[in-house]
Amino acid sequence: MLRSLFMEGEEIDMTKEIQIGLLGYGTVGTGVVKILENNYEHLKIKVGAPIKIKKILVRTPSKMRSALTDAKIVTDINEILDDDDIKIVVELMGGETPAKDYMLEALKRGKHVVTANKDVMSKYGKELFDQAELSHVDLLFEASVGGGIPIIRPLKQCLATNNISEVMGIINGTTNYMLTKMTNEGMDFDTVLAEAQAKGYAESDPTADVEGLDAARKIAILASLAFGARVTVDDAYAEGIRNIGVEDIDYAKELGYVIKLVGIAKQDDLGINVRVHPLLLPKDHPLASVNDVFNAIFVKGDAVGETMFYGRGAGEMPTASAVTADILDVARDIVHGSSSRILCTCYNDKPTYPIEQSVSAYYIRLLVEDKPGVLAAIAGVLGEENVSICSVVQKLKVDHHTELVLITYPVKDEGVKKALKVINEMPIVDKVCNVIRVEQKEQA
Ligand code: NAP
Ligand code: HSE
Repeated sequence: MLRSLFMEGEEIDMTKEIQIGLLGYGTVGTGVVKILENNYEHLKIKVGAPIKIKKILVRTPSKMRSALTDAKIVTDINEILDDDDIKIVVELMGGETPAKDYMLEALKRGKHVVTANKDVMSKYGKELFDQAELSHVDLLFEASVGGGIPIIRPLKQCLATNNISEVMGIINGTTNYMLTKMTNEGMDFDTVLAEAQAKGYAESDPTADVEGLDAARKIAILASLAFGARVTVDDAYAEGIRNIGVEDIDYAKELGYVIKLVGIAKQDDLGINVRVHPLLLPKDHPLASVNDVFNAIFVKGDAVGETMFYGRGAGEMPTASAVTADILDVARDIVHGSSSRILCTCYNDKPTYPIEQSVSAYYIRLLVEDKPGVLAAIAGVLGEENVSICSVVQKLKVDHHTELVLITYPVKDEGVKKALKVINEMPIVDKVCNVIRVEQKEQA
């Protein structure tokens, strides 16, 4: 008889132990070891079988590790792939190579795979799912987006009957931490990046965080799930936070906005648009108060309406929370013989459209000559591309030069780009200092 819950003290058949091969013993791997070791008894009861890490693959076996386990430390992947007792491979190495090859090989050999790897899932998701289907095994990746926040399972299952029109979120903990510190404490970019790395939020190469690529991978995964269409990281536009200056943060504050790095996936008549870029968010927007390493993801469905998922988007224990929940799910599927029930959910073929076709309002900061007719000349060039100005701030006059900040009404991206190319060449314009998209304020 199948049982979903065992009682404390009840005899559990130890020969049914579910053994794990862990690939990676870094930030997240350490958290996974801690949770599985510390909660061994509870998890055994919840699943109906003990879960045990048998082997851990690392690069440098001599490194000191902060979590205690009697698992064997190995440096050869074949020690895990060739071990028939290992039923679940948990990939927490990161990067594309060799992680993707190891996962694919594990799936081919009939092992279930749990991963936190957005690099691989946002690019090779289809190939891995096809193999999981062939091998009748599970492939779960909850921790690949939003760290500890449940978002993959909600999109795949809880919201599965909705038509989803939009997903918008703060999905990179490192940059949110950095922007929060820069906004609230006036800290400079490099100091705050070093702090985020020390806390284990940033990727080993933080370029991916700072340039928006980490968030692009995550929004591509979310778009695939939300719209049931395969979207890869190559379909996503990515722009990071490296150009955000203290001046922009201050102007934004003065105008009633905060600057956040957001991922947006929209579905409309043109198709699917997926992008990551800094955004001026009105101060009263729910995402504006998502600070530090916290992430939040908005989902708009036709039945459910607006929902928001909030929590810690990175770090050892929050991420390990999502990974170990996936392990539990796979273990339950093994116990109940129900593996591979929910695999790839991309059932349709919808086109994506490029950033140039997307529509947004813009913040444009310019350094210009301070003389009559300058604003009119700039407004004229913008007008020719149908870019209409909503508000203007002029400050900081030095030696007959001044800084102009314009906020436009929503307009097609390609129109703004064309106008700025002309404006950049105008003799009255010293410099286009920054251009940032703006989420419009709700009309009162
Ligand atoms: P990490 O701290 O850099 O740890 C990586 C681990 O993998 C290390 O133990 C390393 O071994 C091992 N490793 C790497 N390359 C290897 C190779 N070629 N052969 C054998 N072992 C190798 O990484 P992490 O921060 O835990 O991230 C792991 C995954 O979780 C990544 O996909 C990441 O994107 C994802 N993730 C991380 C977070 C977070 O907050 N950190 C949040 C969500 C998702 P050594 O220890 O010997 O060097
Ligand atoms: N570097 C990532 C972040 C970790 O800062 O959000 C979680 O994927």
